[in-house]
Amino acid sequence: MTARHLIDRLVAGDRLDLPDWRRLLDVATPEDRGYAARLANDARQRVFGNAIYIRGLVEFTNFCRCNCLYCGIRRDNRDVRRYRLSDEQILTCLEDGYAAGFRTLVLQGGEDAHATDEWLCGLLQTIKSRHPDVAVTLSVGERSRESYRRLREAGADRYLLRHETASPEHYARLHPAGQTFDNRMRCLRDLQELGFQVGCGFMVGSPFQDNGCLARDLHFIQEFRPQMVGIGPFIPHHATPFRAAPSGNIETTLLLLSLLRLALPKLLLPATTALATLDPHGRERGILAGANVVMPNLSPREVRDSYALYDHKANSGCEAAEGLQRLRDQLQTIGCDIVVSRGDAPS
Ligand code: 5AD
Repeated sequence: MTARHLIDRLVAGDRLDLPDWRRLLDVATPEDRGYAARLANDARQRVFGNAIYIRGLVEFTNFCRCNCLYCGIRRDNRDVRRYRLSDEQILTCLEDGYAAGFRTLVLQGGEDAHATDEWLCGLLQTIKSRHPDVAVTLSVGERSRESYRRLREAGADRYLLRHETASPEHYARLHPAGQTFDNRMRCLRDLQELGFQVGCGFMVGSPFQDNGCLARDLHFIQEFRPQMVGIGPFIPHHATPFRAAPSGNIETTLLLLSLLRLALPKLLLPATTALATLDPHGRERGILAGANVVMPNLSPREVRDSYALYDHKANSGCEAAEGLQRLRDQLQTIGCDIVVSRGDAPS
């Protein structure tokens, strides 16, 4: 079966099985990628029109108990200046973001022991009482089901937890022994069952990844049906065991964005910072391949460099108020508009 035929099947609403996904990735030519991108861009426009959703990202702590082999803020990296924002700093970021038009706040951090349920729930309640029209997304890693339940009850709307890879063998090569594939999947299932809008995702071109892994990622996402999927190229960080590994491929990342848009047309699909880091036009190219979300950084300037998951992280200046206008202008060139709304996934 040709790649075009498989792409057409996605457009027709068919589900692909694992060997189909594998075949599609194995045989896709540059022309097929262009074909998929055009159809994905059409699909994005059919569902969302010209609207691009924005999410204000606040990286509130870079303390992390995890030791993921790829990540610059892993526990064993002693070269990181660790920081933790105060409640007041976080709320200031939120107010600045709100004034600029953000209606989704993403609280992201390493797995910091100080981010207890009590503290997070209190923060959620404060945010929700000040701005009931803001959707709050948490991205604070693996926790117990009971913890997720409390966070949901305190008002968290969405949760981002990349699955990282849907292949258990591959997962074990990217993480230390104590961090298991099974627990990751348990977390994602719990989050979905508790009524969060859930985002999973993975890196493209992480060490040891092959098309078999990527096929499993796509197949997993097709079956799991998350509301959001974050994918971006792997980029090495100099103080990690993967320092010498090559970066992920941009074209492959774009193809995967397109295939996800075609498989799940209503998906929220960010053009990620990692993509913008490898290509100055990464954001626009991501959108033209089917992405419909951008996540500007609202963190205080003085901590941004310390939240380095990989080297040379883009600081595109598309942040906060003045940057937002620049982002607006950039997206205008490809016919897109940033919208002020919560930007929920269509049901
Ligand atoms: N390159 C690209 N993405 C990375 N992440 C972590 N380290 C890297 C890296 N070196 C991604 C992981 C994680 C998310 C917050 O950032 O997928 O889930």
